[in-house]
Amino acid sequence: MISRRDYLKLALAAGTTLALKPGLLWAEDKQLDLITRAIPSSGQRLPVVGLGSSATFASVSRSEDRDALRDVLKTLVEQGGKVFDTAPSYSASEAVAGQIARELNITDDLFWATKVNVAGWGDGKADPDTAREQIETSFKRIGKPVIDLIQVHNLGDVPTQLGILKEMREEQRVRYIGVTTTFPRQYDDLERIMAREPLDFIGIDYAIDNLTMEQRILPLAREKGMGVLVYAPFGRTRLWDKVKGKDVPTWAAEFDAYSWGQFFLKFVVAHPAVTAATPATSKPRHMADNMGAAMGVLPDEEMRQRMIHHIAGL
Ligand SMILES: NC(=O)c1ccc[n+]([C@@H]2O[C@H](COP(=O)([O-])OP(=O)(O)OC[C@H]3O[C@@H](n4cnc5c(N)ncnc54)[C@H](OP(=O)(O)O)[C@@H]3O)[C@@H](O)[C@H]2O)c1
Repeated sequence: MISRRDYLKLALAAGTTLALKPGLLWAEDKQLDLITRAIPSSGQRLPVVGLGSSATFASVSRSEDRDALRDVLKTLVEQGGKVFDTAPSYSASEAVAGQIARELNITDDLFWATKVNVAGWGDGKADPDTAREQIETSFKRIGKPVIDLIQVHNLGDVPTQLGILKEMREEQRVRYIGVTTTFPRQYDDLERIMAREPLDFIGIDYAIDNLTMEQRILPLAREKGMGVLVYAPFGRTRLWDKVKGKDVPTWAAEFDAYSWGQFFLKFVVAHPAVTAATPATSKPRHMADNMGAAMGVLPDEEMRQRMIHHIAGL
């Protein structure tokens, strides 16, 4: 539990500009609980906001970039976050994050969600030895004997690669397994795979202006008892472009959201099928801002509809 006062101190120390009326800032020293969700297949609870890394950790060549990412990971953990989403295909992401986590001594504090795919994004076949090699490299980079979650990236050769992951889950080298896609052309395949495979997780795109997943995939995940990681909760730059120069509505304070980041994240994690969202950021102040969405209360269904209409009307 963190008090509003402590949260704001942390956020302000990290330089977060909260779109908050000054009067509200110190109005009350309300206790804000960290919001967690249970992984359906185990009951293990995870904070509902984590960190993604595709376009951020992937290209760290300059030392100041690396310092910023170090502070991003530090902020994630300091504020109670755990889930870190990466992939071998995100260039340096796995290696850099693994190294930074060791330096900060937080390797065991993180819930490592990585991926496997040596088959490409279409109908390509995965060579099983090459896929195993890629997974072994992830173990070395992350530096843990057991990886929390490995998912088949973009549904690449699921029979082969999920087959390997099932064996590894059996051997207890991987705790949870799943599949990911953010491509609409793969949604039907995703649904078919969810219907037949014993997945612990799926990773999908979902945002306040991208609601396709509410139709079939999120209800199916609930029915099948699968955890859901939400990718691209801001549509990368799409939602930021939409709200540029616009204030967060004051009624967002009813569910403890004081910035657009918190508004968008609280919308997705309030869906009962969602386990956690993993927005990417290269800035510690944005990480602190995003973690604010894992605190306090979440909007109910009526409020979520109001949020959708508000954004659609901008
Ligand atoms: N198939 C897959 O498996 C798959 C596909 C897509 C994504 N993913 C995962 O999901 C993660 C997230 O998706 P994404 O990176 O595509 O997009 P996203 O999380 O929707 O958006 C990231 C963008 O939002 C900005 N941002 C983050 N927090 C902010 C804040 N509080 N205020 C203002 N701007 C903020 C970031 O810029 P700053 O750096 O300036 O903060 C970045 O440009 C990926 O990194 C990856 O780990 C997986």
